[in-house]
Amino acid sequence: MKKVTVVSPANIAFVKYWGRRDDALILPHNSSVSMNMDSCTTTTSAEWGEFEEDQIMVKYQNKSVEELTGIPREKVIKVADRIRTELGIKQRVKIESENNFPEATGIASSASAFSALTKALYEAAGESLSEKEMTIETRLSGSGSACRSIPRGFVVWNKGQKNDGSDSYAYSIAPPTHWALSDIVCVVDVGNKKVSSAEGHSRAKNPYMDARLIGIEERVKETMAAIEAKDIEKLGRVTEIEALSLHTVCMMSEPPIFYWNNKTFLVMEVVKQIRSQGIPAYYTMDAGANVHVITEQQNEKTVMENLKKVNGVLQTIIAHPGEGARLI
Ligand code: DP6
Repeated sequence: MKKVTVVSPANIAFVKYWGRRDDALILPHNSSVSMNMDSCTTTTSAEWGEFEEDQIMVKYQNKSVEELTGIPREKVIKVADRIRTELGIKQRVKIESENNFPEATGIASSASAFSALTKALYEAAGESLSEKEMTIETRLSGSGSACRSIPRGFVVWNKGQKNDGSDSYAYSIAPPTHWALSDIVCVVDVGNKKVSSAEGHSRAKNPYMDARLIGIEERVKETMAAIEAKDIEKLGRVTEIEALSLHTVCMMSEPPIFYWNNKTFLVMEVVKQIRSQGIPAYYTMDAGANVHVITEQQNEKTVMENLKKVNGVLQTIIAHPGEGARLI
């Protein structure tokens, strides 16, 4: 079989996926909406063949290529095994993967990694799935949010209602060129995630979660409308409420999960100050302390200057709306 290479982006969610109605099929309680991050990608090559064993090589920034081991390796093998069973492949696989952004910055490297991996494994087997099917297969890789990295630009992951998950897929609502948005990632913590998203999903069972889910599909519609109308105030308002709602659920989980640190608050405060000067900028945080600041590209420079001054911002990474997973 042939060797293929896929590049796939990370994505930032405006309406977030948190908690599952089915753990095995990775079915979310709610639909979610995101934007691909053009500057944060994973490039993965895959080849099925008569190799002695599966070989998974990774290259981290400023390091040489190394063999993946431990739990990360098991997660990749699990995806390969599932595809082997599904397609009736007996062969082993050779995988090489590299991110173009620093690891452990709280950017969703698993979304870019698992979308690139899933697409590369299917394409290497000569199976060109439809985009919809590819998002479903990627969802099943374990990193649910990765399914939103397959379509281009601005993307919705439909929660679906069926028990078999066949209607829980992702689709593009606008191409990357639709809206010149910026995501300025303020890195305030470079450590690994304190509590994995997987653990977070399973702890998301409390009355605050029930409250979060009330009206969330309305928020999804509002976000889609804001994107369509390129209405930054509307998008920003929902995005901030969404992040606060997710982190409230985390803090009220048992045991509680606190993803933020004091620098997270500092950045949130500065974002509010920037806004009080009449510049639309809004914050959102995933399962980590780092803050994604959403603004329009025309204001990127000014927002950036303000954020760089914040004591404790170790690094900033700028991303614009990006393409989805693709063969190169
Ligand atoms: C907070 O289960 O997709 O980023 O596999 O660790 O990337 P990873 O997480 P996943 O949960 C993502 C949770 C989130 C919100 C979101 O991206 O929707």
